[in-house]
Amino acid sequence: MTTLAYLNGRYVDRREALVPVDDRGFLFGDGIYEVTRAWNGALLEAEAHLRRLRCGIDALALDGVPDELPEISRALLRNNGLLTGHALVYWQITRGVATPRTHHYPPADTPLTIYASATTFVPPDAARATGVGTITVPDLRWARCDLKTVNLLPNVMARQKAVATGAWEAIMVRDGAVTEGAATNVFGVIDGILRTHPRSNYILHGVTREIVSELAAGIDLPLREDPLLVDEIPHLTECFLTGTTTDVMPVVTIDGHPVGDGRPGPIAGRLHAALIARWSMG
Ligand code: PDD
Repeated sequence: MTTLAYLNGRYVDRREALVPVDDRGFLFGDGIYEVTRAWNGALLEAEAHLRRLRCGIDALALDGVPDELPEISRALLRNNGLLTGHALVYWQITRGVATPRTHHYPPADTPLTIYASATTFVPPDAARATGVGTITVPDLRWARCDLKTVNLLPNVMARQKAVATGAWEAIMVRDGAVTEGAATNVFGVIDGILRTHPRSNYILHGVTREIVSELAAGIDLPLREDPLLVDEIPHLTECFLTGTTTDVMPVVTIDGHPVGDGRPGPIAGRLHAALIARWSMG
């Protein structure tokens, strides 16, 4: 079956959605991306994802992004038969094709490369039922982790290290404190208090992180935006990951050591149920 993608103003067969080798996304990683979930055709937390994408567009000074991104996302879902079940909409915007290769930005009238696709998605519910293993790795990234750029090599290498050791996610540590996962935000529970890294330039401001924080307030779970220290890991009674492709995922081991009683914890369970209830209500 043909899958339709959006590239630079046109809907094309995804196999023909090709980008020239002089694209600055390919040469420099000079671009941003966004991943949004859809459920039965509805884009979940669409405004928050769009807001973050717009922040990235402004920070990278990418001029010329059309206003119709939500309409294009919906057309991709519709035209790819994704109006039932779970799907992902992926957006990537780069500074476009420019020669000669220069580190500085090309002329302002260089057209951006604007790409989007919609694909079916299977939420990781089997992993959620058992909880997942994680490893800690040094956070080797730059100081603008709040920008969702396509420069993902440290995240890719961290996740690969996790997978190669049979773990599900790599938890990154900077200066003795947990920042986030390779593609998730991290929450822990110590003495009944939820903890997560504050919104800063050292983490991606996850949309799911924000919603889960709101949901925690709604069920009277105290939350402190204070980074978890590595030294505190043995005292965690629970730990979980959040993300668009993860929802709320209980962590049952860190570096081979059990978290709490080594089983998915009740707080992660309650927050996941609250998240699904929020989306079910539309
Ligand atoms: N990643 N931190 C990082 C480094 C991420 O890449 C992501 C998401 C998150 C969670 O953010 P959100 O809740 O907004 O999805 C945190 C996406 C899913 C990805 O790269 O595929």
